[in-house]
Amino acid sequence: MQCTLAFDVYGTLFDTQGVVKALAAYVPKAGTRNSQVSAADVARLWRDKQLEYAFRRGLMQRFKDFSVCTRDALRYCNVYYELDLSAAEETELLAAFDLLPLFSDVSNALSILGRKHRVYAFSNGCQSNVESLLENAGVANAFNGVISVTDTKSFKPDPSVYTHFLRQTHSDPEQTWLVSANAFDIIGADSVGMRTAWVKRQHNAVFDPWGVQPEVTVEHLGQLNDLIHC
Ligand code: LAC
Repeated sequence: MQCTLAFDVYGTLFDTQGVVKALAAYVPKAGTRNSQVSAADVARLWRDKQLEYAFRRGLMQRFKDFSVCTRDALRYCNVYYELDLSAAEETELLAAFDLLPLFSDVSNALSILGRKHRVYAFSNGCQSNVESLLENAGVANAFNGVISVTDTKSFKPDPSVYTHFLRQTHSDPEQTWLVSANAFDIIGADSVGMRTAWVKRQHNAVFDPWGVQPEVTVEHLGQLNDLIHC
């Protein structure tokens, strides 16, 4: 039977560590206070803060576009690591975030899954940012649509965001799978009764110990075709 698949975007389809190359030019120089900090460290803090800002904005009901969370998180890193970014450098780094690389398992898996199921991109990112990411990566046509949180004025994992997805796609939770590498997203989808597939690309990724388990766990998206059913 056909299912509805909701693919998380940042961290699941696209590698948020893909900004490392662009950041490498700005990491603190040898001899400065933060000289031991690598571009990967900055990229990780940038991503963590981006998510934290989205969660906090959701809780406080002070919604702003996800790109504002991304920009403010970069500004936090700039101060925290004393990167001394100019306005032009900030713009350049934000542009790199808009051109994140697709994980290598995505294209093939989407084309196989799309033959059987309805496939959506479902993101905290705004519609236009997600659409242009998918266009740039050449996978826009693999999706039946993009569902963003903007209309809900909140962010995943607010349950209202998942019910918004179900309403927009006319799907029942029992026939709808959230596919995400983000454990918080899996737990959020589970809270409204959706089916869940956790993408654990790194062997040391930890699933939050909340007493909730994903229905399936895969190491790459190519394994989903055999496991997803409704
Ligand atoms: C997204 C966030 C979770 O794409 O990264 O929704």
